[in-house]
Amino acid sequence: MAVRIGLAFNIKPAAPANPAGATFDSPSTDNSASRALRDDLPQPDLYAEWDEPATIDAVEHALSAVGQVYRLEANASFPARLSLIRPDFVFNVAEGLYGPSREGHVPAICEFLGIPCHASDALTLGLALHKGRTKEILSYRGVPTAPFVVAKSPDDARNVTLPFPLFVKPAFEGSGKGVSVRSLCKTRGQLVKQVAKLLATYAEPVLIETYLPGPEFTVAVIGNGDEARCLPIVGMDFDTLPKGAPPIYGYEAKWLWDSPSHPLEIFDCPARISEAMAEDVRAAALAAYHALECRDWCRIDIRCDGANRPMVVELNPLPGILPDPRDNSCFPKAARADGMSYDDLVRTVADIAWRRISGRSLLAEVA
Ligand SMILES: Nc1ncnc2c1ncn2[C@@H]1O[C@H](COP(=O)(O)OP(=O)(O)OP(=O)(O)O)[C@@H](O)[C@H]1O
Ligand SMILES: [Mg+2]
Repeated sequence: MAVRIGLAFNIKPAAPANPAGATFDSPSTDNSASRALRDDLPQPDLYAEWDEPATIDAVEHALSAVGQVYRLEANASFPARLSLIRPDFVFNVAEGLYGPSREGHVPAICEFLGIPCHASDALTLGLALHKGRTKEILSYRGVPTAPFVVAKSPDDARNVTLPFPLFVKPAFEGSGKGVSVRSLCKTRGQLVKQVAKLLATYAEPVLIETYLPGPEFTVAVIGNGDEARCLPIVGMDFDTLPKGAPPIYGYEAKWLWDSPSHPLEIFDCPARISEAMAEDVRAAALAAYHALECRDWCRIDIRCDGANRPMVVELNPLPGILPDPRDNSCFPKAARADGMSYDDLVRTVADIAWRRISGRSLLAEVA
């Protein structure tokens, strides 16, 4: 009998028509309307973390070769539908919308109902979403990460004693939310202004950390325990950003300067770095993965400090997996460099999860 897989997800709501008349539901391959910053929402980038329909369709398609898939949108009826369907396990890509625990809602509901869930548990998702809490754990475990403070008021920014330049971002957002060219602060005036703006917009603490001027990488990790391994490292070439833009992979670079019709050729995979540097980057990524007790998969962002030492910036235990190669999504890109298609990636991660949950191989069961 086929393994019954619940697919938990959130889909971006339709964006207002853009000047060209394209809406989110447009069959056009360019999703610019869904990416634009919006002044009709409490946060201009509120839905940035949610998936587009094509991503959920692609994940469903990949999973349907290894099990019977049930689409479970993570909305108000999710708990009742989940408890009615009771799949063998849930494949979770749902990000949630509000609150520091939002990424943990699906695994927490699964845990409550006794239904196994793919990817990290609610505790890890909550800790990893909060970049301050993450860095506390990394520091305690000796995993390299930049010095930081968590600001809860503009006064906290006025009193910061870390040397400039500093980098600021909301403490618990992802997908570039609240990270812009103004995140790099060279003066206290800039810092206080940007911290006050982020506090007002996102109504959550703001992370202030030492600016890391060196090369940046992102590392896709798959597997559990001793079997956890890094896919080929993705490197970034900031020279591809618009002239004069600071070397930051923030909201503008992710969503406004990069689109399927105008791809930003910012990534190298495998990154063109020495084997010694690659070893250090992989070691930092795996140490972070284990420190946060990630499960099944995670993408870890790493950037070097002024002495070229890799520092862990943050962990993404619900990594973005856009299916269109022109979308420049790092996890599928790293998988491709490892010889895996998009379908292979999703099935491999589902197999990793099912082996952890049941001790059996999903791929062997359908072979
Ligand atoms: N301390 C820092 N020094 C220099 N650049 C930084 C620093 N922190 C973040 N950045 C830049 O900002 C980008 C976004 O930061 P971060 O990864 O924390 O945000 P995010 O929104 O959670 O990202 P994701 O899309 O991976 O979820 C990084 O990729 C990096 O280019
Ligand atoms: Mg990041």
